Amino acid sequence: MCGITACVADDDVVDTVLTGLENLEYRGYDSAGIATLNGAGVRVHKREGGIDELVAEVDGVDLHGEFGVGHTRWSTHGAPTDENAHPHTDCTASVAVVHNGIIENYAELRGELSAAGHLFTSETDTEVIPHLIEDELAAGNPPEAAFRAAIDRLEGSYAIAALVDGTEAIFATRQGSPLVLGVDDGRRFLASDVPSFIEFTSRVVYLHDGDVVRLTPGDHTITDADGDPVSRPVDTVDWGSEDAERGGYDHYMLKEINEQPEALERTINGRITDDGRVALEEFPEGAFDGVSEVHFLSCGTSHHASMYAQQLLRDRGVPAYAFTAGEYATTPAPVSEDTLVVAVTQSGETADTLASLRSANARGARTLAVTNVVGSTAAREADEALFIRAGPEIGVAATKTFSSQVATLTLVIERLVADVTGAPSEDSEAVLSALQELPDLVDRVIRQSTASSLANRYAGSDGHFFIGRGVAYPVAREGALKLKEISYEHAEGFSAGELKHGPLALVTADTPVVAVFSGKHDRKTLNNVEEVRSRGAPVIGVAPESADNVAAAVDEFLAVPETHPDVAGILANVQLQLVSYYEANALNRSIDKPRNLAKSVTVE
Ligand code: M6R
Repeated sequence: MCGITACVADDDVVDTVLTGLENLEYRGYDSAGIATLNGAGVRVHKREGGIDELVAEVDGVDLHGEFGVGHTRWSTHGAPTDENAHPHTDCTASVAVVHNGIIENYAELRGELSAAGHLFTSETDTEVIPHLIEDELAAGNPPEAAFRAAIDRLEGSYAIAALVDGTEAIFATRQGSPLVLGVDDGRRFLASDVPSFIEFTSRVVYLHDGDVVRLTPGDHTITDADGDPVSRPVDTVDWGSEDAERGGYDHYMLKEINEQPEALERTINGRITDDGRVALEEFPEGAFDGVSEVHFLSCGTSHHASMYAQQLLRDRGVPAYAFTAGEYATTPAPVSEDTLVVAVTQSGETADTLASLRSANARGARTLAVTNVVGSTAAREADEALFIRAGPEIGVAATKTFSSQVATLTLVIERLVADVTGAPSEDSEAVLSALQELPDLVDRVIRQSTASSLANRYAGSDGHFFIGRGVAYPVAREGALKLKEISYEHAEGFSAGELKHGPLALVTADTPVVAVFSGKHDRKTLNNVEEVRSRGAPVIGVAPESADNVAAAVDEFLAVPETHPDVAGILANVQLQLVSYYEANALNRSIDKPRNLAKSVTVE
């Protein structure tokens, strides 16, 4: 959802800014641009299309500058055109701004600025910012004061970086959109996300809302909205550039599917004792005493992980509700101080999830963020945070983070159930032991999967339906989301019993049905398989390898190793990831950068 990047150094930063943009392209790929400053004015190059087109355009152009900002866009206000690409400039072309987020009062500001004679060249909300800075400079304010005065006028969410001609600094701020500072000996970096500059430095400062940063070569200052200095620690991220690269894989998605065994190792490492108990440092025994019910808030894949967790909690007798965050933000469920509200979000920056989290915070619930990103807004704004430790996920389609989310939530659930019921769940030992085996089992799924052989047969069908019961239901939903997201094929996921209440009308010989089995409730789902087969639909069954009854009832059988049914859904989901990947590949889709999508959706 737009990526911004910036660098200051005492030599040319053009290549660094372009590299930073390439590393951020998963955040948006409608258009891209760069602006530099080198004592001879602000130079801007921007264009519709991906970063490679921008790189080709600036090849041979003298953009040289020690101060640079860059932007990769996921369009909100205005079509993906050259004019709407960032950076945006003022009337005098001496201020250049890149922005991620939405300026909600832009129409009013634009009207006011236009009436005062400012000329606008784009349809974006962002363009008001350089014009506001221009006005403040014209009023005699020094550049930093002009920047502060301009952002004071903004309502909405933003991460902004600005260059001002004649000023040896970059100014930046954030409010509701992510912005991270990178610290290196002679250089400073800014970006929407750490992968942008991880190949240059692993030392980072997570900025807070309202922070105003001034970057100069080898130095930075951070002040609050009143201009008072604030101190933010420099952290070191525990992963490197190789984690954010494609390695030898054709796509990030395939790399990240293959990384699941090691991601899961990290997720559970040190969190289960040798004698089979949950050992969450953040949540010792008794940490969840008094919790009466659990709300999960999340979107997309994270919502499916939450639905999975909801099912596990209900199975253990604890009231649990998985809400889509966008709905909860506007129509929240009642909470009390005994309600544990869990925001599940890979990025920790999804606007809908943050809005719903804020609603729960404001109403006095106890809040917990389960996220992949240390320093993210969700991690900071929730009362407590637990990290899934999946490592950076670059592919727009979430894969390894789903597995790590479900594994993390399972640990939380076993801790919580023991606390609120006074005893570990009946299956606690078996489930925790299954979690410990999970990395090896996922590895087996990946090595032995025959999903690629199905791709040519089913890619291009009229539609795909995914069905499952219990934990297999959210997995069916996730399988459908993954397929539609990267293959652009129509796909829907249903609870298996629901199909006959309407969707069955759509089932034909050209709509494969993917039936997911966990080893629990399988007999009923087999009945639903019979219903669709008798309408001529081919059925792909994903089930534990010993499920001979399933193997005999379906056209294609994708086996997963035997494990506890509560964990089996994670294995089945890996098969579905592979089905989607190979179908999308057979259709020659843009797998890592699906049309209209972006990795992190930072607008509501
Ligand atoms: O970062 P989050 O987990 O909060 O993101 C939520 C969704 O936007 C995300 O899961 C999206 O659905 C994925 N692209 C699906 O693969």
